[in-house]
Formats: sequence, structure tokens, C-alpha cells
Amino acid sequence: MSRLEWVAGSMRLLAAIAAEFEGSRPFAGLTIGTGIHLEPKTAALLQTLRAGGATVIATGNLNSTQADTVTYLEAHGIRVIGARTQDPGEHDAHLDELLAAQPDLLLDNGGDLFTRWLEHPYERLRGGTEETTSGRMRLAPLRDRLARPILVINDSPIKQFAENEHAVGQSVIESFLRITNRATNGRRVTVFGYGACGRGVAANFRNNHATVSVVEIDPVLRLQALLDGFAVPDRDAAVASAEILVTVTGARDVVTAADLGRLADGAILLNAGHFPYEIDVAGMAADAAVTERAETAEGISTLRLADGRAINILADGHMVNLAGPRPLGNSIEAMDLGFALQARCLEAVARGLVGAESCVVPVPRAIDEAVASAFVALAG
Ligand SMILES: NC(=O)c1ccc[n+]([C@@H]2O[C@H](COP(=O)([O-])OP(=O)(O)OC[C@H]3O[C@@H](n4cnc5c(N)ncnc54)[C@H](O)[C@@H]3O)[C@@H](O)[C@H]2O)c1
Repeated sequence: MSRLEWVAGSMRLLAAIAAEFEGSRPFAGLTIGTGIHLEPKTAALLQTLRAGGATVIATGNLNSTQADTVTYLEAHGIRVIGARTQDPGEHDAHLDELLAAQPDLLLDNGGDLFTRWLEHPYERLRGGTEETTSGRMRLAPLRDRLARPILVINDSPIKQFAENEHAVGQSVIESFLRITNRATNGRRVTVFGYGACGRGVAANFRNNHATVSVVEIDPVLRLQALLDGFAVPDRDAAVASAEILVTVTGARDVVTAADLGRLADGAILLNAGHFPYEIDVAGMAADAAVTERAETAEGISTLRLADGRAINILADGHMVNLAGPRPLGNSIEAMDLGFALQARCLEAVARGLVGAESCVVPVPRAIDEAVASAFVALAG
């Protein structure tokens, strides 16, 4: 059995929804365009939408498309646009090709599709969903122009605790161990960001016997980190002390070339935020203090500095749990919950159960409750 079948067989909520959709056909006659990581768990979601009668056209996000998933989807009647790319221009061309098909519904991840739709709008777009925090931040200021129901999966409490907190924390640890093969025990770790993802990352490193500091710009969340038992030193001191440094903020230029003088010899930098700009890898590599950039091992780049220090960066600063070698992403259970929310939200938009007033808003409470009850029932 292939990994895709193992994953699909393990997503029990989605399997139940797909069986229901085969009868109820909420997307009959509709095209759904999706711009989300193409990996095995997403494949199960896309097949669930297809079971509901949709024509599905899919493209990936930057640098995370998995070739075996593309092959599998194409063999199962889903049109896939583009292969894995790190090139933003090529990625944009894939998005444009998808939008040229004028899907009735969009499933977005990072706001790429809806922002490009605004550049070339077409009337038949009913609305859709946005998966992430980063996408909500891009789309919220555009509400007046989007003027369609767009439900933000990230803002469901279920997504917050099941995926962002529990699953991202676990998969970042799994990725660190898989890529570096180094122990976390006794290591000094600095986590930038104490939102849901940062809380999970910090807790998982601590549970793996590291000494963890948190850097958070929001004073209230910094207090929360302190009361949760983490050190909250000044930013520059936290950078200087880190043997392992993780960014997970959604913000740009969190760690830059200006930090090269502070970082400890042998420090390992990784990013778990959505966009690959939290650690300014290009700016660091171009700095006059850097004499060489080498691929030390699969998924590990090393910057050598004139003073003899070496700084290691995992997955070139791309999302470490999806872009590194042999990535697994977040746990099947967490994604089963998040994608059940996706399927139910797209169903609500397709059926006209939410209107234009629901533009860039959280998942309706009734959907959260139904998905939570279904998961608990399956868990026995
Ligand atoms: N890797 C994954 O699988 C995965 C999964 C879900 C979300 N994400 C991404 O992770 C990122 C964080 O998500 P979240 O839900 O925790 O977001 P969030 O908004 O809840 O938390 C981010 C936190 O970072 C803080 N922050 C911003 N700039 C900072 C800076 N320069 N220094 C220190 N702290 C700073 C903010 O104050 C905020 O508290 C987003 O980009 C999101 O899209 C990744």
C-alpha cells in the first residue's frame, strides 16, 4: 500500500464526509480551484471534494509540491497545474493558469489565489476558504473588494489547538531530528513567536529536554510565555544564546544579516512560519562577513564567516516541516480535523449558507461543533 493510501485510510473524518458527499453532491456542476501544499493529506481532501461532485483543479504552494502526490491526483481525475518550484514567478504563473479556468470556489493557502483574483476578477466566483494566519493577514484589509464569503480555517479554535499548537510543535521536532540527526537534550533553543504555533514548538522542544527561551513582541503573550515557564530574555541576548533558533511568527525579516555578529558558532536556524522570509537567508548569504555558502547535507546549508564561525540553516529557511528532505508535514489526525473543516466550509459556501457578510471570518460555530463531535465519536 502506498503512503498516499495509508494517509487516506487514516483520515477517518474525511472518509466519512466523502461517503456522505457521494450521496448529497454539494458541489455538483461546480469547479473548485485549490492552491495548497500538494502532499498526501491534501490529496485526501481534494478527493473528498471530488466525491461531492466538484471538478477540482489544483496547484501547490512555493516549494512544497510532492511529485508522487501529483501523479496520484492526476490518476484520480484531478487536474494539477505545475510541479514543485522555489521560483515565485513560476508559482505566480501556476496561480494565473488556475484562475483562468474561473473556478466557482477557491481553496486558498496564504492568500495567493484571492489576491490574484482581485487583479483579474470574474463574476462567477462564489467565495471559498483560506487556510492560514498569513492568508488572513493579507485578505482582511481587502474585504471590501473581495465581497464574497471567505471562511478562514485558521481561526477555528480546532485548527488553533489541534494543528497549530499540537501538530506543528510535533512536526517541527520530527523535522529537526530527521534533517540534523542531532539530539535536542540540553540544547539552548530560542523560539520567535508565541502564537499557537510558537507555543507548540516551545513546549515540544522543552518536552524533548531542551532549555527554551521565547522572543515575542506582544507583551501579553511574552507574559504568558513567562508564566508557562519559559525564559523571555531580550531579543539580542536570545539570539546570541541560541544553539537552535526557530522562527514561527508569520512576519518578515525576523532574523537577518544584522544578527550574523551575534549568532553562536554552529547555530542551527529553522523556520516554521508559512513564508520563507522570516529568516533572510539571501541577505545573510550576501553579507560581506560570509565567505562561503555550502550544502553541507541534504536540507542543511552552512554559511561560513570570515571569523571562522559557521551558521547552519535548515531547508533554506522554507517551512521546515514541509520543505525539507522526505517531509511528512503535520500529523494525519490534525490535518483530518482541519480538512474536515475545509470540506464543511466549502459545502456551506457552495450551498449559499453563508453570504458576503462572511468575508474573511472564522469558521461558523456550528461547523466547529459538528466536526469536533464527529472526531470525538470516531475516537470512541
Ligand atoms: N509549519 C506549519 O505546518 C504551519 C502550520 C500552521 C501555521 N503556520 C504558520 O506559522 C506562522 C505562525 O502562526 P500562528 O498561528 O502561531 O500565528 P499567530 O499570529 O498566532 O502568532 C505569531 C506570533 O508571532 C509574534 N511575532 C510577530 N513578529 C515577531 C517578531 N519579529 N519577533 C517575535 N515575535 C513576533 C506575534 O506577536 C504573534 O504572537 C504563520 O506564518 C502561519 O501561517 C505554519
